[in-house]
Amino acid sequence: MPLLQNHIAVVTGAASGIGRAIAAGYAREGAQVTLLDVDGKGAEAAAQEIRDAGGLAESFALDVTKREDCIAVAKRVADQVGRVSILVNNAGINRRNGFTADPAAVLKDWQDIMAINLNGVFNVTQAFLEPLLAAKGRIVNIGSIQSFLHVRTPNSPAYTTSKHGVLGFTRALAAELGKHGVRVNAIGPGLIETPLNAAVRANDPGLVKIFMDHTPLGRAGKPEDIVGPAIFLASDLASYVTGTIVMADGGYRAI
Ligand code: NAI
Repeated sequence: MPLLQNHIAVVTGAASGIGRAIAAGYAREGAQVTLLDVDGKGAEAAAQEIRDAGGLAESFALDVTKREDCIAVAKRVADQVGRVSILVNNAGINRRNGFTADPAAVLKDWQDIMAINLNGVFNVTQAFLEPLLAAKGRIVNIGSIQSFLHVRTPNSPAYTTSKHGVLGFTRALAAELGKHGVRVNAIGPGLIETPLNAAVRANDPGLVKIFMDHTPLGRAGKPEDIVGPAIFLASDLASYVTGTIVMADGGYRAI
């Protein structure tokens, strides 16, 4: 029997990369999937792909930084789709400026990254809290190796801070929501080949080498590499797993 039968899952940032792969993976496991993304057309294209493959999916455009919009979309999902039992907070951005770079750029990075990667997680989780409580649901937050450490290059302090925050939020919610039967976990991807880092991979082979030199599996990850952990954490296979982070980083954090 599929692992996520009878579940309704919401995935943010589902138009691309890791979120898109997770949405498709959840649909393959029998979940009805709602894809949310600021790129509404991309989310709909991804939903269509799932439907073409025989899955159940719909999409809504949503900018996770807009609190009121998150609440409105949660209401539409409740009315049009049903009671959400799985939430994947995946939408995120990265920019690579060191803290000593141009102050205006550093400030803009900080504000944009916090607004999406951290406040976005708050906004969407709060908007879907009611059905998640009612369903004894599961929340999966996408952290990073940067939930623990700074990459071995002097850049992206805002991203590192946001992903530490995602892990802290994961633990705090797990502690509070456990008594309601809601499980809250995170996934810590290493370097995964997606549009998020396409420019870095194309233009900065030195940075990619730094990652690969510290990756025991010796390769970058693909979005599909994150799907198994995401299915596991959302499914009953993880019935006694909460407040933790599953690293899917090729071993990066181990060495
Ligand atoms: P991606 O760029 O392929 O996809 C991110 C998606 O989020 C895009 O569809 C984008 O439109 C959407 N998005 C951006 N801002 C949004 C907003 N305000 N509201 C709603 N949607 C928004 O990136 P990728 O790599 O798939 O990243 C997904 C998550 O995985 C992010 O949280 C990222 O930080 C995390 N991650 C990625 C790693 C990687 O190496 N690719 C490594 C570790 C974590």
